[in-house]
Amino acid sequence: MKKITLEVNGKPYALECPDSELLIETLRDRLGLLGTKYSCLEGECGACTVLLNGENILSCLALSVEADNAEITTIEGLAKGSEPHPLQRSFVDKGAVQCGFCTPGMILAGKALLDKNPHPTDDEIARGLDGNLCRCTGYIKIIDAVRHASKK
Ligand code: FES
Ligand code: FES
Repeated sequence: MKKITLEVNGKPYALECPDSELLIETLRDRLGLLGTKYSCLEGECGACTVLLNGENILSCLALSVEADNAEITTIEGLAKGSEPHPLQRSFVDKGAVQCGFCTPGMILAGKALLDKNPHPTDDEIARGLDGNLCRCTGYIKIIDAVRHASKK
C-alpha cells in the first residue's frame, strides 16, 4: 500500500493504493470515471487511453503508484460545462462515432496529438492514433474528425 495524490480532471485526490493497482482500476472503480474503457488489458487496443501530464498513456499498463503527483485527464475532463470539447463536437459532426467504445481513447489520443501539433497532416493524424483500434468506422471518419477539429 502506498499513499498517493492525483489530480484528475482538475480535482485533487489523496488515495491509498495497493502497489499492484492499475491506473484504470483507480479511475473506474474508485473514482467512478467509466468513460475510460476496460477492454484488452494488454496494451493492444487503446480503449483505456488517458492523458498523464499531457501525454497519452494506456491506463491498463500503468500502476497508480507510478502516477503519484501526476495530472490525469480522462474523457470526462474535456467538456467545459455543457460545451463539448472541439474534438468531441467534431467526432459527432463527422460521423466518427458508431458503437462509441473506442471514442474516449481516440479523442484523448487526438488531443495529445493536437496539443503538440495543432495542424497535423493526415499521415501524422494516422500515426498519432495508431495505438487506438476501432472495429466499426474504418478510421476514415475518425481522421476527418481530428482534421476538422484542428481547423477550429
Ligand atoms: S484496455 Fe488498455 S490497451 Fe486495451
Ligand atoms: S466506434 Fe465502435 S470501436 Fe470505434
